[in-house]
Amino acid sequence: MSWAQELESIITTATAAIKAAGSTSELEEIKVEYLGRKGALTTLLKNVGSLTAEERPQAGQSANAVKKEIEAGLSERAAALESTELDQQLLEGSVDTSLPGRRPSVGGKHILNQITDEILEIFLGLGYKVAEGPEVEVDWYNFEALNMPPEHPARSLQDTLYVGDENQAVLRTHTSPVQVRVMEKERPPVYIVAPGRVFRRDVVDPTHSPMFHQIEGFAVDKDVNFGHLIGTLETFIHTMFGKDRKVRLRPHFFPYTEPSAEVDVSCIVCGGKGCRVCSHTGWLEILGCGMIDPNVFKNVDYDPEEYSGFAFGMGVERIAMLKYGINDIRLFFENDMRFLGQYT
Ligand code: DAH
Repeated sequence: MSWAQELESIITTATAAIKAAGSTSELEEIKVEYLGRKGALTTLLKNVGSLTAEERPQAGQSANAVKKEIEAGLSERAAALESTELDQQLLEGSVDTSLPGRRPSVGGKHILNQITDEILEIFLGLGYKVAEGPEVEVDWYNFEALNMPPEHPARSLQDTLYVGDENQAVLRTHTSPVQVRVMEKERPPVYIVAPGRVFRRDVVDPTHSPMFHQIEGFAVDKDVNFGHLIGTLETFIHTMFGKDRKVRLRPHFFPYTEPSAEVDVSCIVCGGKGCRVCSHTGWLEILGCGMIDPNVFKNVDYDPEEYSGFAFGMGVERIAMLKYGINDIRLFFENDMRFLGQYT
């Protein structure tokens, strides 16, 4: 093969190889193969001495032109390959921004905490303060100081969960002991709401749970009367359930209040006409209340001649059930997000 033919064959094979190269690293190999120190073109240039003196300048020029052409081909192909390689990398490690995102689940307040806060908020607005007491109580606070002597039926084993020996410690059966604890420490005037868990020896069914929540409220001051109690409860009920709710008091008995009453609100479902929710009475019972018994005052060293007061206690679950038409108390404690999620 003549020198010129060899040059011709180099440019032909190099161009074909460049075109066929599938990656930038293949291009590197081609570069070495043709333009490297031992490459085909370099070797051919070294052989320029075999040509005649007249042929040499022309040969050198054409070899340089070929070198330039190969270099240009290499860099052009490299640019194309680099951009497809980049596309490929982006595709492999890519994020499909058209996919719907994964929504982080956001926490929320349990419905019972919401209702509790709502109730406390109403009383805070009326000037009350929040107090709390222990869930494991002693007999004195849970019963005796509240005018429930040892033989009182409310102490029967059916209702109370005793802790330890000699029946001294009990899981509190209501939040009323907080009345005694606060009055022991503070002098009137006291205006208190006390939320918390209470415990009873109950079998679980749609309306009973051995653990539930109550809010106790009480006010002791000079010249507090039954009218103040009714006005306070009406304000609470109208704020909680709406202005068009009617309120009714029925005489009742509680050992720690005298007189005592149970308070009903006109049925939230039927408005008072009578339906299944209100057992066709038109009324729903929502709390117990009364004027604090002088015996309770004596137990905390308040003078019943100087001070008077009222107290009330309500079940948080019951209020929530009435407000939202929930028919099974167990739903509050099963932690099924399909239920709880509806109220956050
Ligand atoms: N302690 C009562 C109960 O658990 C509720 C109650 C009734 C609280 C009358 C009171 C009250 O403060 O005056 O059912």
